Amino acid sequence: MTDYVPVRELPGPAGYKAGDVFVLFGELFGRGYANGIVDEARRAGMTIIGITVGRRDKDGILRQLSDEERAEAEVNLGGTIINVPLEAGFDMEPGPKGKSPIDQLKGVKSDEWDAVSLDWEAIEQSCAAGTKRFTGNLQKVVAELESLIPLGANVLFAHTIAGGIPRARILMPILNRVFKGQGERYLPSEMFWNSPVGRLCSMSFDEVTANTFKYLIDATAPLRGSISARGGSVGYVAYCYHGCEVLVDGSYTWQSYTPYLQGWAKMRLEAIARDAWKEGVRATVFNCPEIQTNSSALFLGVEISLYPLLAALTREGGGKQAEEIHARCAALLKEGMTVDMLLDKANSYLRSPVLSQFRNFDTWPHHNTAEQAELMLNSATELLDMNKDPKEIVCAELSRAVFRAVGILMFRSIWKPVSPVCWLSHDIIARQIVSEG
Ligand SMILES: NC(=O)c1ccc[n+]([C@@H]2O[C@H](COP(=O)([O-])OP(=O)(O)OC[C@H]3O[C@@H](n4cnc5c(N)ncnc54)[C@H](O)[C@@H]3O)[C@@H](O)[C@H]2O)c1
Repeated sequence: MTDYVPVRELPGPAGYKAGDVFVLFGELFGRGYANGIVDEARRAGMTIIGITVGRRDKDGILRQLSDEERAEAEVNLGGTIINVPLEAGFDMEPGPKGKSPIDQLKGVKSDEWDAVSLDWEAIEQSCAAGTKRFTGNLQKVVAELESLIPLGANVLFAHTIAGGIPRARILMPILNRVFKGQGERYLPSEMFWNSPVGRLCSMSFDEVTANTFKYLIDATAPLRGSISARGGSVGYVAYCYHGCEVLVDGSYTWQSYTPYLQGWAKMRLEAIARDAWKEGVRATVFNCPEIQTNSSALFLGVEISLYPLLAALTREGGGKQAEEIHARCAALLKEGMTVDMLLDKANSYLRSPVLSQFRNFDTWPHHNTAEQAELMLNSATELLDMNKDPKEIVCAELSRAVFRAVGILMFRSIWKPVSPVCWLSHDIIARQIVSEG
């Protein structure tokens, strides 16, 4: 059973300073979670270093960034990109007969996906080849990194990698039915997860979302030794998801998005941090709230639990920042709609008896049911429909507020970490925002 460790106290300031080095382990996207911690590292004056997953052209071969792509990525990050392709996973990795896992899924028709039989030996070999490529390239990244770390500097790594949906054409229509299907289009996530294609996804999620953190911790072991010998510290943070507490009927209540099929990989990520911690590595995995990003766009309904942050801001004391967020959200709503109406609608979803079986922390992650999917998807659509403009929505405003606060909380917590796994919920996030004035 997983221990639930919510952060209830605001952490003190971090001691990172100019000359210290912040390494983002993942690429940075405009609305991604990592923006919060990158901003915080920049504010502290740290030197910012990033990586790239690399790119694949039409020939399917993984390559490093071109000069132009690298320059663009460096402007976006505000730091140096180490240009060695660190794409994780094995979906495009050729097996012994030259066939990759996605080659095995080529030509499968949409009504045949559950009857497909896969060559597991070949998949295992692709997986091993993918790991070898990733860890080999990671060695090169670490060697370059070493030359960029000044004497006595502290180093902070932030792992943001999550993904691994195999890039087979057949997969997105199936996943759309799992995550967004209702009525005839509804596909039980458990049926998908227990199918061969589901099993392939599970292996891929583990490799991309979880194992990359272990590879990072292992590959930087010698570096940790040399940095600490020179008087510096090394910390690792990783973004995770394992539900979070939001206000439901006025009480902070743990809840989660269903069906979160990455959940098993995220629990593996937690286990990796616990194992590293036992070895004396300063590594913490932070379970963060649901927000809207490129990666969460597939999960319609994940954003519903974001709305009660507006109530949490008031509960935790309000103030200038909270009022500004409230005002900006109110301005995005259609004529006649109010923040209170939005909160009422989100609360009536979150308190629904249909969700009671999904509020069990010990049995997470949960599979969907037809009734739950229908309630979630319809509530999500009705809430999104309250926005004036579908391109400028309340969720985007709230997501920014969350990733900024989470960035600050992670950055400060890892300076004096207290546990390998913890939860940042709406209470502490609202308190962080309110504390800024
Ligand atoms: N969005 C949410 O609601 C939410 C909630 C809690 C935790 N998180 C976590 O936050 C982290 C960042 O996600 P985000 O939602 O900000 O989305 P994002 O799309 O901005 O970030 C996803 C990251 O994964 C990397 N990535 C994806 N596939 C990869 C691959 N095959 N190889 C190497 N790198 C790969 C990308 O480069 C990027 O850095 C993830 O760990 C995610 O699980 C997200």
